[in-house]
Amino acid sequence: MSVNYSLVAARSRNHIIGRDADIPWQVKGEQALFKKITLGGCLVMGRRTFESIGRPLPGRISIVVTRQNDYKPEGCLVAHDIEEGLKQAEASERPIFVIGGGELYAATLARAQRVHLTTIDLEVEGNVFFPQFPTDAFTCTHTEHFQSNHNYCYQIFDRNQTEVP
Ligand SMILES: NC(=O)c1ccc[n+]([C@@H]2O[C@H](COP(=O)([O-])OP(=O)(O)OC[C@H]3O[C@@H](n4cnc5c(N)ncnc54)[C@H](OP(=O)(O)O)[C@@H]3O)[C@@H](O)[C@H]2O)c1
Repeated sequence: MSVNYSLVAARSRNHIIGRDADIPWQVKGEQALFKKITLGGCLVMGRRTFESIGRPLPGRISIVVTRQNDYKPEGCLVAHDIEEGLKQAEASERPIFVIGGGELYAATLARAQRVHLTTIDLEVEGNVFFPQFPTDAFTCTHTEHFQSNHNYCYQIFDRNQTEVP
């Protein structure tokens, strides 16, 4: 049985999620939405994303994926490959959220059950992208529009059920 997990990401209209270590926008309300989605869950993230956040997020378990054997961020669990990170997350018996960044999304989208995707109504310059999405494998099951300093649209995409022969 494979691990059941969701991706949570925010991208610009031109599919940017980051510029170097940072997210190239500040949108009022968007972080509160991220918290609402993920609170109580188990977060799996790449080492660069963890360092850009800078601390374990309260009310959630943080699992940092790195190839470095001696990397031990305080208050986090560490995994040395993504599969190991997802297995550790499953053992927590909490909802599992892969929260980035680009490398982690690219490696986990193909088996995600759900994608929480916020699109910020902006075109920005950046060098970290969300993978091509949505694909035919997903259906949008929820859409919510928010007015803010930059308007944004929150959507949930669920993987289509495939029939077992
Ligand atoms: N807009 C959003 O929703 C959002 C969300 C999250 C992040 N971001 C942005 O995304 C950017 C960071 O993304 P990124 O792609 O540069 O990095 P990332 O995915 O956060 O982290 C990459 C690191 O994860 C580790 N890693 C990746 N694959 C691995 C594997 N198979 N096995 C073991 N370790 C593995 C490696 O760490 P080591 O180098 O330590 O080995 C690698 O350098 C930043 O700009 C951040 O602000 C945006």
